[in-house]
This record gives sequence, structure tokens and C-alpha cells, in this order.
Amino acid sequence: MSYIDTINEQTRPRSGSAQNTGCFAHVVGWGVEVPEKVLTNFDLEEMVDTSDEWIRERTGISERRIAEDRDSTFTLALRAARKALSQANVSPRDLGLIIVATSTPVYLFPSTACMIQDKLGATQAGAFDLLAACTGFIYGLGMAAAQIRTGMIEHALVIGAETLSRIVDWSDRSTCVLFGDGAGAFVLSASDDPGGIIDYVLHSDGSGGDYLVVSSGVKQTWNGEPRRQSLTMNGQEVYRFASRVMSQGTQEVLGMAGLKVDDIDLIIPHQANIRIIKSAARGLKLPMDRFYVNIDRYGNTSAASIPLAIADAVEDGRLKPNDKIVLVAFGAGLTWGALVMDWAVEPTPRSHLREALRESWYILASIRSLLRRLWRVIEAIFWRHDKSKHLESGRSDDEDQE
Ligand code: UT7
Repeated sequence: MSYIDTINEQTRPRSGSAQNTGCFAHVVGWGVEVPEKVLTNFDLEEMVDTSDEWIRERTGISERRIAEDRDSTFTLALRAARKALSQANVSPRDLGLIIVATSTPVYLFPSTACMIQDKLGATQAGAFDLLAACTGFIYGLGMAAAQIRTGMIEHALVIGAETLSRIVDWSDRSTCVLFGDGAGAFVLSASDDPGGIIDYVLHSDGSGGDYLVVSSGVKQTWNGEPRRQSLTMNGQEVYRFASRVMSQGTQEVLGMAGLKVDDIDLIIPHQANIRIIKSAARGLKLPMDRFYVNIDRYGNTSAASIPLAIADAVEDGRLKPNDKIVLVAFGAGLTWGALVMDWAVEPTPRSHLREALRESWYILASIRSLLRRLWRVIEAIFWRHDKSKHLESGRSDDEDQE
């Protein structure tokens, strides 16, 4: 190995290698939530100038799910999270971290992750939202795995959840036919057993940011109008970028892990367009049956697309314990990333007693949350009372602390 090769090897960004640590991050449970309401291509024909034939040929999508009015990214994410925790048989109080990958949070703050933390009663968890658009779930898994591998936490919950139907312009046929709603969650746990999340790569290129834009709603000036929030996209440029990075990202992560494409049982790509997946297959010289595709049923659900595809792949018998898989995605930002892992999740047998205990925990979590809110009100009353007494006596808070 030359000097330059040695330096390159030493400085090579190994954003997510498990190979130098004794602690491994395994996925131990998953759960998904899809709205019941189905919007078919034929329904869209009634709304915009499009056709079922055009949508299926150009995208591979037949239908997508739309969240009910009473639902939100938060409620879909919460239900997926509960299913994942139940399947993993991990208690919410053992979670060290909750990450919600989403581009459609209910609020900028509080984060959807904090809302989930409260409802789950995950009292030991740090929680934050992650915005890497459709690559968000891979970014989230990478962040959580890194925390577990360094020994900082033992269990993490990573959720990809979206209600894209709320930011789509339903009069724009070039975008409204593509997107759908849904949520998926993984529980990750530390283990001494080698495997789990083996390697990952995360990339970004902000110079392509204007190809896919949704404004935050923050006003441009202090006295200006709130900005329009619907999604705008340069479809052809995103398509060109995606076709390149899907195969590149897969090859890169396999190279890092010292694996060949033939070592991989199944590739689970971000479900944006069947033609993009076919182009990745061509780039990797693989037949399409090595890729899992469910875009026909859900359309593009952004950060939720990979966990939804994994759940369906398990259901269809395409993904089995001990399979080696690659997850690969691209999205707004621009962002892209890939992750290679051993899928070793054995579903825990259902236990009615455990389910009942879990439900009771969630009821207690709601009571705890209510009591904390009430306590804050009481505390504020006392604080105001004390403050007015101090003001009357002419003492400052600082003097009081001394
Ligand atoms: O997660 C990341 C999110 N984004 C993506 O992944 C998007 C990536 N891009 C794509 O998937 C594709 O570019 C699209 C599906 C968005 C569009 O497919 P395309 O083959 O690139 O179509 P195009 O934009 O070149 O449009 C071809 C024609 C145009 O008409 P003219 O100008 O040729 O007369 C469009 O106006 O198709 C027209 N068109 C439609 N026609 C019927 C665009 N949308 C529709 C529609 N129905 N829904």
C-alpha cells in the first residue's frame, strides 16, 4: 500500500462502521401504520388532467393512502412506534433516544419526537426530529446505531412518518400523483452479537436544493406574509440525480463493508418511481427480483417509504431472518444514503398479558403527562406569588438567591 493509499485509508470517512467496536446495533422490532383511505389513480383522474395509464407507466404507482382528517404525522408515528415497541418487547422507559424522520411535522417545535416521547412515557429518552426528506429514515438509523455502538444508549426508536397529502398542491398534476401518507418505526438495541447495522453512508449536496422545495412557513421578513408551503419539484432533475446515486450509494456502502452485491439477499430502495429503481438495477447489473417494490400500493411516502417496504417484504416472505439487506434512498436537500444490515428480527410471540401491561403503561404515561402539566400550573402560581412579594419588598431575584 502506498503512502497516499495509507493516508486515504486512514482519512476515509467511515460514517457508520460497526467493524471496530465490540457493541452492535440490531433492529429488534418494527411496526407500521398506513391510513385506511385509498386514493386511486382513477380518483386522481377526477381531480387533475391525468390518467391511470400515464401514472402507472411513468411511476409504477396505482394508489396511495391519505391520512384521515383526525390523523397527523404524530398520530401515525405514535401507532407505528407502539407496534414496534410491542414487537421488540422493549419498554418505553428503556429508550435512550427517539428520532422522528419527517418533512411534515405537526409543528416546527415542539418536535414530533418530543410529542411521541410524552405519549409513550419514554422518560429516559432524548428526542428530536430529523429532516433529511426521503433519506431521513436511513439518516435516523445511522444516528441511532452510532449512539448504540459508542455505548451511549442501549435502545433507540427510529420513526419515519409523513402526511405528505398536507403539503402537496392537489392542482399540480406533476407532483400530486406521486405522494402518499404513512409511518414506520424500528426499535434498535445494543448487542454483543456481531451483525445488525453493519455500515452506512450519508451524503448531501445543497447545490441541488432548489430541485425539491417546501417552505417552512416562516415569513421572509418580520412584517411579511407567511410563505406558501406546497411542494414544488423539478421532476426531471431529481430523476437524473436519483438514477445516479441509487446504484452509487449501494456500491459505496458495500465497498465499506467489504461485501459484494452478490452477498446481498434483498435491496430495499426508497419507493419514489419504479423507473428509478429499474435504473439502479441496471447500474448494479442486477435483476429486478433482487429489489423489493411496493410503490404501486403507497406511492412515495418519503421518510416512511423504507420501513413500509420492509414490513411488506416480511409479510410477502421476501425478507427472512438472517438475510443481508441494503437500504438505499435519495431525497430533497439533496440528500442520499445507503445502509447495509443483517435482518435478524424474529417476531416475538404475542402475549395478551404483555399487551395489557403495555396498554396500562400508556395510560399511566398520559396521567403522568397531565399531572406534570398541572404541576407546572401550580408551580407558576407560587412563582408569581413569590415574585410579587419580592417586588413589593424591593429585593431582586439575584439578591434572593445570594
Ligand atoms: O423522493 C423524491 C421525490 N421526487 C421524485 O422522486 C421525482 C423524480 N422524478 C420523476 O419521478 C419523474 O420525473 C416524474 C414522474 C415526476 C415525471 O415523469 P417524466 O417522465 O420525467 O415526465 P416529464 O416531467 O418529462 O413530463 C412528460 C409529460 C409533460 O407533458 P409535455 O410537456 O410532454 O406535453 C408533462 O406535462 O407528461 C406531462 N405530465 C403528465 N401527464 C399526465 C406531467 N405529469 C403528468 C400527469 N399526468 N400526472
